Formats: sequence, C-alpha cells, structure tokens
Amino acid sequence: MNEQILANVMECSVNGRIAPLSGDRSGLLLDFLRNTLHLKGSRFGCGHERCCACMVLIDGQPSYSCTRSLESVVNCRIETIESLGLEHSLVRAFLDEQAGQCGYCLSGILMSAKGLLDRDPSPGRAQIIEALEPHLCRCGAHARIVRAVQRAAKLDGAA
Ligand code: FES
Ligand code: FES
Repeated sequence: MNEQILANVMECSVNGRIAPLSGDRSGLLLDFLRNTLHLKGSRFGCGHERCCACMVLIDGQPSYSCTRSLESVVNCRIETIESLGLEHSLVRAFLDEQAGQCGYCLSGILMSAKGLLDRDPSPGRAQIIEALEPHLCRCGAHARIVRAVQRAAKLDGAA
C-alpha cells in the first residue's frame, strides 16, 4: 500500500463515530474538531496548555486539543463535550449547582471531570481539586464547580 493510500485510511473515533483524518495531519486536533467536524464545544483559550479550555478526553485521558497534532491521535478514541447529553449526571449537577457564569471554561472542565469520574466514581474533594487544578475559570466559579462534581458522583452512586 503506498503512502497516499495509507494517508487516506488514517482515522480516529470522535464521540463513538469514525472520523477520517484527511487533509494536513500535522494540523491541530482542536481545529479539526471545530472546523472540520463542526463540534464547537471545545474552546480555544491560550493555545499553550495554560488554560484547559480546549480539554478533551483521548483514550480516556484529559488532553489538550490545542497542541495535539492530528497524526498523534490516529486510532485514538476522542470524547468531547458533545458526547455528554443533558441527562448526563455531570451536566445535571452543574446545572443544579449553577456551577458557571460565562461558561467559557466549562466544556474543558466537564471533560476533565468525566475523565476523573470514569477512573474513580467516588473521588474525594482533594482528588477533584487536584484533577481540576490546571483549569482556569476567570469567573471564579471554582467552589461551585467542585461541589457540582461531588454532586455528580453522588448522582452516579445513587443510580
Ligand atoms: S487553549 Fe488553553 S490550554 Fe488549550
Ligand atoms: S464560568 Fe466563566 S470562565 Fe469559568
């Protein structure tokens, strides 16, 4: 199989669907999600791994999409905020706690929180704070955000 054909079969999965990685594979994952797949929930903030607005899950791990090249996610499983429906415990808990103001940071925070709860369904407050520590929230909603993740863990435990 020549390189041209190989290039055409590169793919990853995004929110459970196969996504062919056509075009420039040195391009950035965040641009691919937003501009090719039209999944606008992941946000651009700093572009330098400083704010976490762009955070997605790659094979279950919270990852910066603003610096990841497409070629680095071939055959990876990517989850974005669009994978969480309104009935997801995290979404319900964030709404119940009114854990956000402008909302710019929330898609990244929700994906890091999902990664945490997938790994540990009953995290303590310290684990939640540690998992969300890199995230910037310029509205200062951190306390409500931590409470919302605690609430989501309880909702999952009660289900
Ligand atoms: S946009 Fe700020 S860390 Fe990616
Ligand atoms: S809710 Fe505005 S930046 Fe976090």
